[in-house]
Order: sequence, then structure tokens, then C-alpha cells
Amino acid sequence: MRNKFDSENIIKSKQRSVDFGEVNTNSEIVKKMVDLVNVEFEKLDSKFLEPACGDGNFLCEVLERKLNLIKKLHSKQQIDYEKYAIQVCTSIYGIELLEDNIVLARNRLFEIFNRHYSKLFKKLNQEIIKSIRKILELNIVQGDALSFKSGKRLEKFIIFPEWSFIDNLIKRRDFTYKDFIAYAPTVEPNLFSNLDEKAFVPKSVKEWPLTKYYKIYEFKK
Ligand SMILES: C[S@@+](CC[C@H](N)C(=O)[O-])C[C@H]1O[C@@H](n2cnc3c(N)ncnc32)[C@H](O)[C@@H]1O
Repeated sequence: MRNKFDSENIIKSKQRSVDFGEVNTNSEIVKKMVDLVNVEFEKLDSKFLEPACGDGNFLCEVLERKLNLIKKLHSKQQIDYEKYAIQVCTSIYGIELLEDNIVLARNRLFEIFNRHYSKLFKKLNQEIIKSIRKILELNIVQGDALSFKSGKRLEKFIIFPEWSFIDNLIKRRDFTYKDFIAYAPTVEPNLFSNLDEKAFVPKSVKEWPLTKYYKIYEFKK
């Protein structure tokens, strides 16, 4: 018997479920789970990382909520909306083992942005559109979240950019995923520790020159 979640592609194939544990979460459960961290949507720059993101069910819900917030707060001026949309997209990260899921996740996220953007404004800025595509390419990556490696043979480290705004400029610093998550406040010693133990300050693997936020698409890699 078919149920209402059949159209959501929860299981794409039996073999994929066996080989990769691929069983996607249905939209009702996604919404309920994201509700649990609703307080994070009060800050536009709060970061979300999903280490086994599939084709993006959770990340799409996060983006949808963040874009709804900037629609409420910043849609009077297109230029403000665009800047905050860039900020929102830089705050969402994903890792997924299967390449086809990565392509789908990036496309779904882009389509959500595009739907919001084109509903609000008539004349769309192509530099913003290309920059959003670039951010999604860099933030949503193929890899094995357990070994911290990426590539077909898992031959290299997963690298993530950290993005920070300085007025209309953006600073990009690349970190290995392993070091990147060392930022997270956990019980381990970390950057935010205010206890006596030594804080861990990860070193970036590459620092990029300051760039205008609407020129992000110009990054070569
Ligand atoms: C249970 S599904 C969940 C997908 C998505 N998070 C959702 O809830 O709809 C698990 C996903 O993790 C991926 N996966 C399995 N092992 C992984 C690993 N070591 N690193 C990254 N992704 C992995 C699978 O390909 C699959 O798409």
C-alpha cells in the first residue's frame, strides 16, 4: 500500500539502503526535528552542518526558515536582502558520501533560494546568483564524515571554507573538516572554552584575499 511519504523518495533503492544506510527522513519528521533548534533561527549567522546530508532534506528546511526570516527583516531593500541571503547560504554546510546526492542537495538548495529571490524581486542580480551557486559548491561536499576524507578513493581531506563578513567584504579561510568541527562547543577543549584548559585554535590551510560578497563566484576553487 502506498503512503503519503512515497513521493518523498525515502528509499531510493534497497541496495543503496543496504550499502550506505540511505533512508531519507520524511518532511514531517524533518520539521519536528528542526523545531527543536528553533532558537538558532533568531541569528542569521548560526551555522548548521549535516555530516550525512543525503540529498539535503534537513539543509533545505534550514535554508527555508532562514530565508523566511530575512524576508521578514530585510526585503524592503533588495541590496540588503541579497547580502543577508549570501550570509545565510555561507552558514549551511553538508557532507555526503554519494556524489549524486551532493548534486541533488546543491540543486535543491539553489532552487529554494531562487524561488524566494524571484518571488520578491523583478530584476535579479546575476552576480548574486552565481555567488550562491559557488557557496553551495564549496559548502556542500562529497566525502566520508567518519574518516574526514573526500574524493572517489577518499584520498584527500575534506576542506570547508569559513566565511566572515567585514562590512561589504567577505573573508574566506579554508579549514580541514577535522579542524573545522573543533570550533564546535563540546565537552572537549575547544576555541570557546572559558575554563582553564588550553583552547584549541585550528590553523587554516588557506587564506583568501578579502573579496566583495557579490564576487564570491570569482573564487577559482
Ligand atoms: C539515513 S540517510 C539520511 C539522509 C538525510 N540526512 C535525511 O535524513 O534525509 C544517510 C545518508 O548518509 C550517507 N552516508 C553514509 N555513510 C556516510 C559517511 N561515512 N559520510 C557521509 N555520508 C554518509 C548515505 O549515503 C545516506 O545518504
